Amino acid sequence: MPTIDVIREMYNASGVHPTTDPDDPRSHCFVDRYKKHLCKLITPGMRVLDLGCNAGRLTFAMEDMGAIATGVDFAEIPILHAKKVAYRRKSQCQFIIGDIVSLPYKGNTFDLAVLPQNIGYLSYQSLELLSVQLKEILSENGIFVVIMQDELVKRAGKENLQDCYNVQAGQMRANTTIPNKGVYASPWHCWTVAFAKYIVEKHLHLQKLEQIGEYKFLLVFRNKQGNGSL
Ligand SMILES: C[S@@+](CC[C@H](N)C(=O)[O-])C[C@H]1O[C@@H](n2cnc3c(N)ncnc32)[C@H](O)[C@@H]1O
Repeated sequence: MPTIDVIREMYNASGVHPTTDPDDPRSHCFVDRYKKHLCKLITPGMRVLDLGCNAGRLTFAMEDMGAIATGVDFAEIPILHAKKVAYRRKSQCQFIIGDIVSLPYKGNTFDLAVLPQNIGYLSYQSLELLSVQLKEILSENGIFVVIMQDELVKRAGKENLQDCYNVQAGQMRANTTIPNKGVYASPWHCWTVAFAKYIVEKHLHLQKLEQIGEYKFLLVFRNKQGNGSL
């Protein structure tokens, strides 16, 4: 099965749980971790896109910051839940089912796009395809925020990777056990900050790189005329 279907199947099987449900206070911890960084970038009326939004905990949080927020995810189950929450809250958030590597938007549709903690699901080629799209979709001076962990900083000296790491694809084999459902494959690409920066910078301009946790980083790119090589 292609990796994209494997990951979608895993997220549909895991569905919505307390830490991902925007209506459950246990999901707030994740949101709070990133709120203070996003608050500095989001201004009222800004059109924002949450890439890989799941059930929308961060999408709703960005709406609360004043943004006009859209979330996209290829897992149908969490998106349907996000839509129900939006309806109940009378929220203006839009949620669409789709692959972030082939977005259905035209030029100048968003002012900010955020990829929060899910770069590992993208292959190296997919991040480049996403960056090319964002160059088009984001407004002039629009912002692309990547929140990611550096796998080298995280794993250095701690694990024997040989059994689970595919050197050529840069992909870790991993499994996730979902209670009452079984064990699901959840492959994960090993990203470093340097490599992500190298790929996105071909198309967007790096404005800021900040370490926000033990091995977590926030990268802020801007869509400026003339940046990028393609
Ligand atoms: C770790 S979760 C992050 C969830 C979300 N950012 C949040 O705050 O709850 C990763 C999400 O990214 C989605 N995802 C991964 N690759 C994707 C792709 N290529 N297109 C759309 N969604 C994707 C998964 O379905 C999953 O919901």
